[in-house]
Amino acid sequence: MLNFAHRGFSGKYPENTMLAFRKAWEAGADGIELDVQLTKDGQVVIIHDEKLDRTTNGTGNVRDYTLAELRKLDASYIYAGQMGVNPIPTFEEYCAWVAGTDLVTNVELKTGVYPYPDIEEKVWDLLQKYHLENKVIISSFNHFSVLRMKELAPKLKYGLLEESWLLNPGAYVASAGVACYHPYHGSLTPETVAEVKSHNIEINTFTVNDEESVKRLRALGIDIVIGNFPDMVKRVLAE
Ligand code: G3P
Ligand code: CA
Repeated sequence: MLNFAHRGFSGKYPENTMLAFRKAWEAGADGIELDVQLTKDGQVVIIHDEKLDRTTNGTGNVRDYTLAELRKLDASYIYAGQMGVNPIPTFEEYCAWVAGTDLVTNVELKTGVYPYPDIEEKVWDLLQKYHLENKVIISSFNHFSVLRMKELAPKLKYGLLEESWLLNPGAYVASAGVACYHPYHGSLTPETVAEVKSHNIEINTFTVNDEESVKRLRALGIDIVIGNFPDMVKRVLAE
């Protein structure tokens, strides 16, 4: 079972910042999950919420600001200066960094609220520029967005995100021609796992933050756990 850091090492460092990504790598994560959206001027940036208010010292929607405006904000302000100033990363900045590591990246297209026209093309262009085609999994709660990107880049690995307890998720994911199911980990009963595996679909699950769940999911044969504490997951998997 592989260990992916959710929004970087977000349990200890400001989520979706280069600091959290570097710390996840140093903690021994196998991969990093991150969220992408578009700025007003069409640049791909890494941030979870559609609004700036929770994680930065800005207010309002990400999509209403240019990249230059967003780069003046601090994405670690809730740490009250203890982490320095950490800007919202561009996806390009991340790609340039991760290309020098052996990390796999799970790029979540945050297209569930705003569809962000052309985000799929822009992500694909950057993945090619930095030769990350074999080191990426693309996922989204917006399954139309996943299929749009799959049209552009059919050889990449894709996952369908789901928070609810679907009846036959393996059949659903297989019918979309997608390789991975990305469910909420609490929904993974032995029966559901067996149904998904019967369709040869990989299971990459979120957000796994306690030791007991890591052990339960390992016993169920889950492929990737995505959590906020990659150090804890690494320790438990080594036991
Ligand atoms: O990709 C797994 C997980 O990150 C999905 O939920 O809200 O944390 O982006 P969320
Ligand atoms: Ca996410």
